[in-house]
Amino acid sequence: MAEHALFTPLKAGAIDLKNRLVMAPLTRNRAMNADDAPMDMHVTYYSQRAADAGLLITEATQISPEGKGYAWTPGIYSEAQVAAWKKVTDAVHDAGGRIVMQLWHVGRISHTSLQEDGKQPVAPSAIRANAPTFDGQEMVDVSEPRALGTEELPRIVEDYRRAAENAKAAGFDGVEVHAANGYLIDQFLKDGANRRSDAYGGSLENRARLLFEVLEVVEGVWGADRVGLRLSPFSGANDATDSDPKALADYLVDRLAPRGLAYLHMIEGQTGGPRDWPEEVDMTALKERFGGVWMGNNGYDRDLALSRVAEGKADLVAFGVPYIANPDLAKRFRLEADLNEADKATFYGGDETGYTDYPFLEEMAAQRHHAAE
Ligand SMILES: Cc1cc2nc3c(=O)[nH]c(=O)nc-3n(C[C@H](O)[C@H](O)[C@H](O)COP(=O)(O)O)c2cc1C
Repeated sequence: MAEHALFTPLKAGAIDLKNRLVMAPLTRNRAMNADDAPMDMHVTYYSQRAADAGLLITEATQISPEGKGYAWTPGIYSEAQVAAWKKVTDAVHDAGGRIVMQLWHVGRISHTSLQEDGKQPVAPSAIRANAPTFDGQEMVDVSEPRALGTEELPRIVEDYRRAAENAKAAGFDGVEVHAANGYLIDQFLKDGANRRSDAYGGSLENRARLLFEVLEVVEGVWGADRVGLRLSPFSGANDATDSDPKALADYLVDRLAPRGLAYLHMIEGQTGGPRDWPEEVDMTALKERFGGVWMGNNGYDRDLALSRVAEGKADLVAFGVPYIANPDLAKRFRLEADLNEADKATFYGGDETGYTDYPFLEEMAAQRHHAAE
């Protein structure tokens, strides 16, 4: 029997993938050190999944101290962080995997206690999001942000460029620009969060200006064929909404199509929620309009992944929660094996428990064998 397309190789831009399963970016709040750098348990966690997935996308990683919005998330702006991430990429490559870094600036989804000198978080407009964050002690409402001045935006674009260079120095196979889930770039894209009257607000072209400036510099470092982009135009995650998501998605996809990106990573619906999008949106038509490698995400299980890849509705499928609990997810899907269940209590923060201790199929078989003896 021919192998199902989900388990066959694909070239995403310049990145060779052994199968179509991708580990979605997953913030786990375990960089519990003064450097905001990944630790030994991160090396274990990513390398455990490297032999299995076609591609790993790192947890969202802040490009600057200002880009941080939660306790214990890692960065990619210091030498210590680059050195620590190098250990992760070396281990992933030794295990035969591919890994890209998700570049992140949270914008207004932050708290003064997480910012240098207790500064206000920054945003396109001074509108506080109705969203929580984690300050290291407890869940708190995000702080009131200040609106970025037009003259400050080149500095942020430069932070993205330096982060892209650092990711290269750390040995990644590419980067994913995080323009989804209500963080800085998504805040600029969506008119619910962006009320600016300068060249970065108002029209679609203006709201997308920051995104394309960032893509330009990141592509300058990596080449477009090693740059992916994550979008969530239909999601209200972190209180970022748009009055016309179809127009926003059409506009972005049309402008992205000729760039030759490694892939477009689309959150199909509400992030971590229903696969719902406005009735007038035809997701398959959007994929065709883009024309490049389409990475679908959100609420996929084995059957949906098999069918959407077979029907050409997705080229790659990113799995979030299933990859938290199953380091060998592709293998389990191939063998139609049962899945481990994810423990929500250990998603954010903590130690190896619920991070690197989910069993592989072999361990489970060995345990069963042992119990039967
Ligand atoms: C614990 C957790 C952390 C997440 N962290 C990120 C992140 O860092 N960056 C991001 O773009 N999405 C993040 N997401 C969203 C996931 O990447 C994904 O879009 C979502 O879980 C839906 O996919 P799934 O149904 O396969 O889990 C996170 C989700 C979870 C559950």
